[in-house]
Amino acid sequence: MSSVLPRAGSRGFFLTFEGPDGSGKSTQLRKLAAHLEATGHSVVVTRQPGGTHVGDRIRAILLDSQTEKLASMTELGLMFSDRAQAIAEVIRPALDQGRIVLCDRYTDSTEAYQGGGRQLGSDVVLRMHGMMCGGLQPDLTILLLADFDRSLARARRRNDRTAAFAPNEGRFESENRDFHRRVYLKYREIAAREPGRVFVIEGDQPIDAIHQQILALVDQKLRALAAVS
Ligand code: TMP
Repeated sequence: MSSVLPRAGSRGFFLTFEGPDGSGKSTQLRKLAAHLEATGHSVVVTRQPGGTHVGDRIRAILLDSQTEKLASMTELGLMFSDRAQAIAEVIRPALDQGRIVLCDRYTDSTEAYQGGGRQLGSDVVLRMHGMMCGGLQPDLTILLLADFDRSLARARRRNDRTAAFAPNEGRFESENRDFHRRVYLKYREIAAREPGRVFVIEGDQPIDAIHQQILALVDQKLRALAAVS
């Protein structure tokens, strides 16, 4: 595989990173963004919840462990409000300019956490996705799944480490083991349902080995897109 990946084409390229807390997806996203930028691509990096002014405020409500009594449907509505804003303000304009959008979490997170973790089910999440996101789907989703216990322990350690100096974002990490198990299983279900979009990468590998697999996948997808546009 060449290290210079093909261009995104006029309709842009939308790539999302997914995985349970502590799966290492943000590290991989940063590495891919650096590689793409170094090879001359125009890249937009964003995350959910957050990534816009309004979204950062929504993120604070959603992730702060001081937030109490948030009904599951309110949580679901806020996740999609954040997403609708990000699509309008960041994702759509970037794709329309033919850029590559790398997004740390998207609707699969809502399906895994609110659909699975909170037990709202997939149906309500997918229906809201249709309404709030106009059905905008990623061209490619990288799903990092590491050993369940190791990634949960890693997420909790990170949260303890950062709690003293960063905003407290531990509301989901502090959920119990059963919640996180449901999230994990829902991710597996999504991957089995959509094998053409969602690629599972084994997260318990060296960072560089994962990075190489991601480069190969992105290369393959960009070539396929270039062939049809
Ligand atoms: P992160 O930005 O560190 O990945 O944390 C975001 C947290 O928010 C993470 O615990 C997953 C959770 N989340 C949901 O529950 N639903 C969603 O739709 C999204 C985007 C995130």
